[in-house]
Formats: sequence, structure tokens, C-alpha cells
Amino acid sequence: MPNTVLIGAQWGDEGKGKIVDVLTEEADLVVRMQGGNNAGHTVWHGKKKYVLHLIPSGILHRGKTCVIGNGVVLDPVHLVHEIDGLLKLKIGMGRRLFISENAHLVMPYHRELDALREQSRGKKKIGTTKKGIGPTYMDKASRQGVRLGDLMHPERFAGLLKERVRTNNALLKAHGMKTVSFKKTLDACLAASKRLKPFVVNTLPLIHAAMAQGKNLLFEGAQGTFLDIDHGTYPYVTSSSTTSGGACTGSGVPPNRVDRVVGVMKAYTTRVGEGPFPTEDDQLGEMFHGMGREFGATTGRARRCGWLDGVMMRHACMVNGFDDLSVTNLDGLDGVEQIKVCVAYRLRGKRIETMPSSHLDLLECQPVYEVFAGWKKDTSQCQTWASLPPKARQYLKAISQMTQCALSSVSVGPDRLQTIRLN
Ligand code: IMP
Repeated sequence: MPNTVLIGAQWGDEGKGKIVDVLTEEADLVVRMQGGNNAGHTVWHGKKKYVLHLIPSGILHRGKTCVIGNGVVLDPVHLVHEIDGLLKLKIGMGRRLFISENAHLVMPYHRELDALREQSRGKKKIGTTKKGIGPTYMDKASRQGVRLGDLMHPERFAGLLKERVRTNNALLKAHGMKTVSFKKTLDACLAASKRLKPFVVNTLPLIHAAMAQGKNLLFEGAQGTFLDIDHGTYPYVTSSSTTSGGACTGSGVPPNRVDRVVGVMKAYTTRVGEGPFPTEDDQLGEMFHGMGREFGATTGRARRCGWLDGVMMRHACMVNGFDDLSVTNLDGLDGVEQIKVCVAYRLRGKRIETMPSSHLDLLECQPVYEVFAGWKKDTSQCQTWASLPPKARQYLKAISQMTQCALSSVSVGPDRLQTIRLN
């Protein structure tokens, strides 16, 4: 397998975890390059369910090496919990989990600031996961961040933390928010640092040495294209580069070493949190929620649901350069009589075929739909392209045509065996 980047083509929750899990079989190194524990990848192995937030799901495959790259932000205490959870399930990580010393740390004051910012936005809140992601990336960009490498030196870390807690507590206090205890934070972080030490390295030479040995890399994107800080529905986005370029900056692998970009998309669209969503359809949402589908893995929130948006998909193809697409959750549409796909928008009386840059314009966009006849058959047991109902194949072909992308797999259920490989 060439070096592959896997990216969510919509607003996250496309079912990337499962596709990563399948692709990991052919990879040697699985690299996470952005985001933090705002992500939640659900992976099923038979009847066992794993939800991973920071550690690449490649860890579930014995013998695979996993890297948490410099572009990730991590809460050290949470990471230790995640490691312990895996150890309880008898998944060992010794000498196969490596974490970049340049990854920035999410601290308790970041979570408080996240809550404060959301509160002060009132009706305009982003609907963040409240994990402190935005404030951590803010500190990184404003050159005030604390990194994992700092945590490996207790005295250096204590000095940095003291100053950051003091500054942020003043801010929190001024807004009537809970302040953070320096001592408690220091103790918790130093305890976590002892556990994390064996995993913390300079991941750059490690990744490049693996490439020099001809090893295959798989980059596991978190969130999705429209949550990208530059290319998403700003300001209703997360704070990292969730598109394919983020694989390079978040790991130190140059663009000319990326061989393939795979997009993962749902056969329809979902989003959690606030922000524009032109094809949102409450009835479709009610149907999915009634089926027990479309609840967030990290926050348990019911996801907003809507039809597939071809305008968005074309935008996602431009930004990411998808070589091929994995379509997930096809089975979600099994019972639907008529399936709509948005092929253009109508904005103030004009038909447009590209996404407007401003979220305010996007809010005004009315979708122009093409309607497909539903297949009204259970696809969850289909194992091959030929066994899919003809109308389902038609729908998938239309997706491929609309995006000018080959489809590499179709997923018809949560189990890794419910994946139809097409190449
Ligand atoms: P934050 O990343 O917690 O700052 O949240 C910013 C926006 O991204 C919110 O709308 C979140 O709901 C959304 N978001 C963050 N992580 C994920 C994810 O893993 N899946 C889907 N949406 C996410």
C-alpha cells in the first residue's frame, strides 16, 4: 500500500474509524496528525466495541506501529485513561505507540476557556465538544503553548504551567468562571508524564526512517473537511487542519511523499454542533434516531441529519484531492422511498454550483435536489458489488460521477466484515 491519507469528506463522523481499521491491515505505521480528544472513532471487532479518541485505531492490530504526530493536541491525563482502557482489553502498546514531543498539551484552563467562549457567544455558539481544543490551538498559534516535550522536564513544565495558570485564572476570574488549581494540575500532569514517558519521542526521524525502509504509512484524519479551520464552514469549524494538507504539517511528511488520498463519506450527511447545513432534513434525522443511529461517539449528542450534498462533495474533492472515496452507512438509506441528492444551490434567486465562502451566504442557500428511487431492501448482508440492489448501485454510480472519483469501498454496517471492497 502506498502512503495513504484518509480524510472525512463531510463534517466528521463519516465512519472513518472503520475504514482506517480495514486499511490498517496493509499499513505498517498509522499516524494521527491533528485534532484531539474531540474526535471519537468507534471500531467494532466482532461484538467488542472500542471508542478511541487520541490513539490511532491501528493500535487494535497487533504488530502495527502508531504515531501521534506534532499536529495533535492532547490532554495527558485523558491519554493515560485511554491507554489504561486499552490495557484492560489486553491491548499492549509497548514499542509500538510513539507520541510527538511537539504535540501541544490541553490543560484544564483550556476546557474552562472553551466553556467561557461558548457561553459568551450565546445564540452564536459553535457547539464545541468542550474539550478545550480551540483554546489549545489558540495558545499554539499565539506561541504560548505548552508541549509534551516540556512535560518530560518537570521543572521546566512547572514554570511554564505556573505562568499559564496565573494568566488564565485572571481571565476566568474576571468572567466569574471556575479557576484552575496549579498544584492539582501539576500533580495530575506529572503523574501522567511518568506513564507517558516511554512513548514520547521526536517522531520526525522515526517516521522518515520508516519511509526509508519502505514501510507504508496510513494517516488517520480526525473530524472532517467542513470542520477545517481554513476550508470549512468558518467560524463553525474546529481549530485544526482537517483536510489532506494537515497530514503533512501535522506529521512532518512532505507532500511529495503522499501517494494516495482517500475520502470517507456517508451516503447522506450529518453534523454535530451548530452552523449551516443546507440539506438538513429533520424527518430523515428522526428516522435515523428512531433506528438508534447517528448519536455522537464523543458527546452522545444526536447528530443533525440531511441528504447528500453534491456541491459540498465537489468542494471536498478540490481541497483534498481525493483519489478515491469510501462510502459508508449505505444501509442507513435501506428503508427510504425517495433519496434526494443536492446538485446545486439557489442563492438569492441564482443557481450556483460551488460553495459560497461565507457561512452567512451558505445559510441562505436552498438546495436544488435530484431524486433517486430508493432500493427498499436490506443491504447489510451484501458482500459484493453484484449483490447490492440495482438501485443502490445506481445511487453509488451517481456519487462517483458527481465527484469524478472512483469508489474504493462501500460500507453497509458497523462491523468490519460489512465492507464491500471495490478495488
Ligand atoms: P471543537 O473541535 O470541540 O472545538 O468543536 C468545534 C466543532 O467541531 C463543533 O461543531 C463540534 O461538534 C465539531 N467536532 C469536533 N470534533 C468532531 C468530531 O470528531 N466529529 C464531528 N464533529 C466534531
